[in-house]
Amino acid sequence: MCLMSVLIQNGRIVTAAEDYIADLYIENGKISAIGANLEYKADKVIDASGKLVFPGGIDPHVHLDMPFMGTYSSDDYETGTRAALFGGTTTVIDFILQTQGDSLRNALTTWQEKSKGKAIGDYSYHMAVTDFNDDVAKEVVEFIEEEGITSFKTFMAYKGALMIDDGQMVQLMKVVKKHGGLVTVHATNGDMIDSLIAKHLSEGKTAPLYHYLSQPEVTESEASARFTDMLHYTGCTGYIVHMTCEGALNAVQRAGLRNQKIFVETCPQYLLVDASVYEDDFEGAKWVMSPPIREKKDQKALWAGLQQGLVNVIGTDHCPFIWEQKKMGKDDFSKIPNGHPAIEHRMELIFSEGVKKGKISLSKFVEVTATNPAKIFGMYPQKGTLAVGTDADVIIFDPEKEHVISKDTHHMNVDYSSYEGWKVTGKTETVLLRGQIAIENEECYLKPGSGQFVKRGKTSYVI
Ligand code: URP
Ligand code: ZN
Ligand code: ZN
Repeated sequence: MCLMSVLIQNGRIVTAAEDYIADLYIENGKISAIGANLEYKADKVIDASGKLVFPGGIDPHVHLDMPFMGTYSSDDYETGTRAALFGGTTTVIDFILQTQGDSLRNALTTWQEKSKGKAIGDYSYHMAVTDFNDDVAKEVVEFIEEEGITSFKTFMAYKGALMIDDGQMVQLMKVVKKHGGLVTVHATNGDMIDSLIAKHLSEGKTAPLYHYLSQPEVTESEASARFTDMLHYTGCTGYIVHMTCEGALNAVQRAGLRNQKIFVETCPQYLLVDASVYEDDFEGAKWVMSPPIREKKDQKALWAGLQQGLVNVIGTDHCPFIWEQKKMGKDDFSKIPNGHPAIEHRMELIFSEGVKKGKISLSKFVEVTATNPAKIFGMYPQKGTLAVGTDADVIIFDPEKEHVISKDTHHMNVDYSSYEGWKVTGKTETVLLRGQIAIENEECYLKPGSGQFVKRGKTSYVI
């Protein structure tokens, strides 16, 4: 059913800046009025008394249908964006991967084919530059100026497939800086990691635990510091994805003293889980991701970083593989596809573990799950807040509802849940995407193809 208008009554509207009870009126996909006791006739009226009303979540770090480590991530645009909607995430930013030796344009065409007609929620792309040269430099400019793709992902690890060297990094930064884009990074020292993997395997150490031991904190803190130094040299703005540890945060703090513009993202797994997950033999494969899960002291530093505004965003790094795919590394941890399923539960986990347990405020929750990603990645205020004129991407959230996370009830295309059995307080109840009911009564009402590509501009986040 196509709704022209929706009236949400008496909800507690929470944005990154405000918290108040009001009605919200939606017309033609946009918010058209906010106020007390609005007297509009609407196609649908929702009573949100006792509920929280948030802007739709934005997950700026997902991998859908991505070729990686000899296989593909198991959620495609349909299953991935549907699962995201169930959890209250209305927009995702996926990563296009350039094939080394090939153009950015060809990679873009491939990703357009993956998403077109399939995405249920809204989406955008980061462009991962895995092979920088003069032709690619021209394409970078075209992507920023014509395609609405303004963020360029780099990998300092995964040599031979995705990694670029420091010379390419600096040249890319110069072009991106000149045209007002952003360079994002997987900041770990690929050469150090590869040598530790080789050493462990030569000693017959093949269990998932050695994935963790092959990527000690120094591999991330060193690469993060090197990245920030290269940003300083070029004057480029940067964003470090999936930060896990105190050492890397220290590098960013030092860069802040030079007044650099660097954003930091972490993910729920690094805030909520510690490295003891690798102790259980092959079960630890569920948590084989890069960087690996770290220590309790790192969790503490990341929560503090959120509070202090040093960590700006919570994404997921959703990169799911079914158990049969994880078993590719049964006898060799380095062959376990890296990544885990997370797109669905980011909002609920962070609400439950962060807001309910008093680690972050409600406004901070909205800031790091929706507003900051929208500002940093050039989608604000179309996305990321609730105000007159913005897209009506709205979540109605029950803050008291308890539920248990399980593979039997989740919507991701994965046959296990990393958080199996976790009790969570707070549930996404109703989700609207551009004014249409996406999720209600535990059902998805939007069809594949409902999701729209979001053309992005320059960052509007002011540091
Ligand atoms: O383990 C991970 N993180 N897999 C996805 C690719 C990446 O590095 O983000
Ligand atoms: Zn990564
Ligand atoms: Zn990732």
